[in-house]
Amino acid sequence: MTVLFVNACLRGEESRTLKLCREYLEGLEEVQEVDLAQLRLEPYYGESAAYRAQLEKDGQFDDPMFDLGRQFAAADEIVIGAPYWDLSFPAALKVYIEHVAVMGMVFHYTEEGRCEGLCRAKHLTYITTGGGNVAAANFGYEYLRGIAGMFGIPEARFAAAENLDVVGADIEANLDAARARLAELKATR
Ligand SMILES: Cc1cc2nc3c(=O)[nH]c(=O)nc-3n(C[C@H](O)[C@H](O)[C@H](O)COP(=O)(O)O)c2cc1C
Repeated sequence: MTVLFVNACLRGEESRTLKLCREYLEGLEEVQEVDLAQLRLEPYYGESAAYRAQLEKDGQFDDPMFDLGRQFAAADEIVIGAPYWDLSFPAALKVYIEHVAVMGMVFHYTEEGRCEGLCRAKHLTYITTGGGNVAAANFGYEYLRGIAGMFGIPEARFAAAENLDVVGADIEANLDAARARLAELKATR
């Protein structure tokens, strides 16, 4: 079982989201980590997107630009950790998804023109923490749920620790609520 951990916790070891992710991953075997703070991926622009589309069309998947997509498609389980930023998540995670979304490897179009996912994972687990309330405007998760569907991952799951920046809030209790949810998710892997 290969677990792919997409680490979008850009504050590194200071990150409370990362702490929850590490707790969830503890004891799991074969965890591969992609650290987006280190990778510093560039977004795709017109020319680079056209270049990639040509390689996809020609089936030339040996270019290193496809390595992240190959790794994502092959993983048995996907875990994404990201803080709640501006009602979703850091832009670095969106850029990562751009790199992963390789046509012909992660998804393709059937002869009838239907988009069909090609990923192996049975579920995608999204872990976040928010300064305030997350559930009321959970756009990052909604987007990733859509991406899971597009990539052929049948189930998306979510856990959040909320209100971590609210003055007077019981931070540990809020983290514990997320830990309880993560324990449920871990039990149903
Ligand atoms: C750039 C940035 C944007 C943020 N946007 C929001 C937001 O829209 N809503 C919110 O409740 N908290 C927001 N926060 C607060 C974070 O969600 C909160 O501090 C979170 O716990 C940070 O996670 P971390 O400790 O893993 O870095 C933002 C923080 C930063 C740095």
